[in-house]
Amino acid sequence: MCGIIGYVGHRPLEDCERLLVAGLEKLEYRGYDSAGLAFISGASVEKVRAIGNLEQLKEALHAAGLDHPVGEEGSASTGIAHTRWATHGRVTEENAHPHSDASGEVEIVMNGIIENHTELRRSLEADGVAFSSETDAEVISHLIAAEFDGDLTAAVRAANTRLRGHYSFVAMHVSLPGTLVATRCETPLVVGVGDGENFIGSAIPAFMAETRNVLEIENGEIVTVGADTIEIEASDGSPVQREPELVTWDEEAAEKAGYETFMMKEIHEQPEAIAETILDRLSGDASIDLSDVGLDDDYLTNLRRIVVVACGTSYHAGLVGRYAIERWARIPVEVDIASEYRYRDPVVGPGDLVVGITQSGETADTLAAMRLAREAGATVLAVTNIMGSQATRDSDAVLYTRAGLEIGVAATKTFVAQVAAMYLLALRLAELRGTLDPGELAALVADLRSIPDKMDRTIDSVSEMVVEIARRHADQKFFLYLGRHIGLPVCLEGALKLKEVSYIPTDAYAAGEMKHGPIALLDESTPVVCVATDSPILDKVLSNIEEVKARGADTIAVATEGSDRVAEVVEETIFVPETDWVLQPLLAILPLQLLAYHVARINGLNVDQPRNLAKTVTVE
Ligand code: AGP
Repeated sequence: MCGIIGYVGHRPLEDCERLLVAGLEKLEYRGYDSAGLAFISGASVEKVRAIGNLEQLKEALHAAGLDHPVGEEGSASTGIAHTRWATHGRVTEENAHPHSDASGEVEIVMNGIIENHTELRRSLEADGVAFSSETDAEVISHLIAAEFDGDLTAAVRAANTRLRGHYSFVAMHVSLPGTLVATRCETPLVVGVGDGENFIGSAIPAFMAETRNVLEIENGEIVTVGADTIEIEASDGSPVQREPELVTWDEEAAEKAGYETFMMKEIHEQPEAIAETILDRLSGDASIDLSDVGLDDDYLTNLRRIVVVACGTSYHAGLVGRYAIERWARIPVEVDIASEYRYRDPVVGPGDLVVGITQSGETADTLAAMRLAREAGATVLAVTNIMGSQATRDSDAVLYTRAGLEIGVAATKTFVAQVAAMYLLALRLAELRGTLDPGELAALVADLRSIPDKMDRTIDSVSEMVVEIARRHADQKFFLYLGRHIGLPVCLEGALKLKEVSYIPTDAYAAGEMKHGPIALLDESTPVVCVATDSPILDKVLSNIEEVKARGADTIAVATEGSDRVAEVVEETIFVPETDWVLQPLLAILPLQLLAYHVARINGLNVDQPRNLAKTVTVE
């Protein structure tokens, strides 16, 4: 996740710069490890980049004598800016955006990932192009430069045909002051329509203080923006006519991109979080590229056992990961609650890979468990969302999730990104150890790639029904969650979400275990939420649902589209799209997050800051 903004207009250059920095301030939630901006000044481009947050960028502008730039009389002010969340390449000034071509005439800022950047870089280098950063984004400026013959839109169009990935970028060329050209493929891009000036950004808040007239740019479209003109073309090159829409959010809503809470915004950001985490690590064929992690192939091929340590939601991600690793890579996996593991005098040592999952990278118990394992000789891998967090320092290798900053205390998008990261690890292990045949591996990779799109559809398709269910059950005193197999960690996570944000007691149980005790809790008023998505033991789950129904409980199921058997048994069925059953948790959790959310909101609760909880738990 990164934030991009561009400005073109008749205001003085000094104002242009101020507006770009103000825009970045509103986008900083998308990334904040480095930032930069560039603007056209006469016949050249001025560019300043800095490691750290925007204060550092402002200091760098001041140091460069560019904090009050003076433009050319009568010429439009044109600039682009970026706040970075590093994915490709370390946090360095060279890797910060904007990125230029070798001549410094083209400048671009990008959000997202170019999946085929390695092959593009190789082919550009073979043509004699010298790169100045480690980023995937830099290929864009070189491709545009290679195609440019005076028409920036045509050059962007041509460059775009060679890019694969999910990205949006804005480009400018020094010979064309007064023009910005941008495009998007999956990641967001909006145009702010002003009077004698226009903006392009990753999100509306970036320019909302200046204009509330907004044009949404669709996938594959290219938009060419001048101070007084906006031209959009579709992916087939045909012109697109679209009227701006008026945004009526207040300032607080703007921070949340129009959603009423951060939690709801983050629920909707989940497809993007998954796309960012997986897509460039799944190369075109069936191969999984985890070279950024820092574990060598020999080690991964020969390791003996995996132990996952984590807390709360991250522990649930570990439980899902266990199914994937054991099934696909046939390596034994233990999953432990970090606060228990560290005091158990565990048997661990060389040959074990200990995976500490922690979105914050600062959870005291998880860090302690990771340190203990490392001291005992195990190799420790951190799965975390936060660059430079303590977990990255207490480990031998790091697998980053790329969910972007999560503000809501209840984890949503970081959970799905953790699950996706565990799938990547499982698939890479299977690939190296040859435990899946190539056809199976390719099918799983294809299924995983399609998940962001299916998540988008699921959030849209289930929302209305979940609100209805939440209305009917918002005053319940207790919810039971039942699932088996890979559905069990989904239940555990769904139940944790409900209790965290609504304060309603919940229990999540392995459905086969229910008759050994929890069934005594049931009466006719108890809502029982069942995860009954397709799995090798769906029949058994259905039998367990019959058992609770026989006690009069009110059953709600999450099931796979087309699974009429489930709908015949339960009172209410929420369908999610079909996918390989190991991947189902990424879809099945969505209605459960939404259910928790709506129950809490109907009860008037603050879902972003539930009582007694903290986002980062640095005490044991
Ligand atoms: C999840 O909604 C909770 N906020 C909590 O369980 C959280 O997952 C747990 O504290 C672990 O945090 P971490 O991932 O930052 O280590």
